[in-house]
Amino acid sequence: MNVKKVVFPVAGLGSRFLPATKAIPKEMLPIIDKPLIQYAVEEAVDAGFSELIFIIGDTKQAIKDHFNFKPNLDISNLTEVKKNFLSEMHKVIPDYVTCEYIIQDEPLGLGHAILQAKEDIGEEPFAVVLADDLINSQPSVLKQMKNHFKDKDTSIIAIQKIKNCESLNYGVIDYKEKCSNLFKTTNIIEKPLPEKAPSDYGVVGRYIFSNKIFTFLEKISAGVGNEIQLTDAIKLMLEENLVYGYEFKGKRHDCGTKLGFIEANISYALNDPDYADELKEFIKNLL
Ligand code: G1P
Repeated sequence: MNVKKVVFPVAGLGSRFLPATKAIPKEMLPIIDKPLIQYAVEEAVDAGFSELIFIIGDTKQAIKDHFNFKPNLDISNLTEVKKNFLSEMHKVIPDYVTCEYIIQDEPLGLGHAILQAKEDIGEEPFAVVLADDLINSQPSVLKQMKNHFKDKDTSIIAIQKIKNCESLNYGVIDYKEKCSNLFKTTNIIEKPLPEKAPSDYGVVGRYIFSNKIFTFLEKISAGVGNEIQLTDAIKLMLEENLVYGYEFKGKRHDCGTKLGFIEANISYALNDPDYADELKEFIKNLL
């Protein structure tokens, strides 16, 4: 099935990264030289998504500016190196891809953010990408999930094995059957205490939803953290609809935490031939 639309909820407050996020959204923080949101967009475009919907807060103008960037420069006097840099910037979103920016007036949670896209999504299935989950994989996780998405009434959510003590940071699934990487999900709980976690599989920020999710997003009230939680809508949806957990192949960095963000920078730099050797040397001397 061809899923064309993808929602990027980027309206969170980024409070863990204050003061860096006072004037810019956390999704604009860079891994080396590229903002997190750009990695997410490149993953989606590469996976064949052509309608991008950003749910932004009122301080998130930077994201719009980033993707609308058209330097007002006379390039004839620039060096070849600078011209190459400029063409890099233009390449982010190809012409056939459309971008929609929807403002979430109040930060009422991930579920509420996604609900803002209801009209734009219409009857179609769609993906959701949380840009602070940076995943290094080939093919990308969205591509892997798209390959498994066959039925518009069935949803797929990315999962990975977590330590029991980490359950407080994740939506955690319960499941009945498992066929290769697909887990037939029977329950999901947002950020359970370790002793209440129904399994050791936590949800990671890649989802492909049947548009039925909106019915359930409209039904739920505030949950954990007093926020409208996507997890609670998925839990309701499970009562009548199939939801699969998909254990993806790839290395995920939780860039929603400072440690995960630092690790992602180091790990991407160590994979980059421009920096790898000197960085290894630097780390060796440091230790
Ligand atoms: C959100 C979701 C959670 C999911 C996590 C993945 O939580 O609510 O279910 O496991 O993303 O990163 P957040 O990290 O925004 O608190």
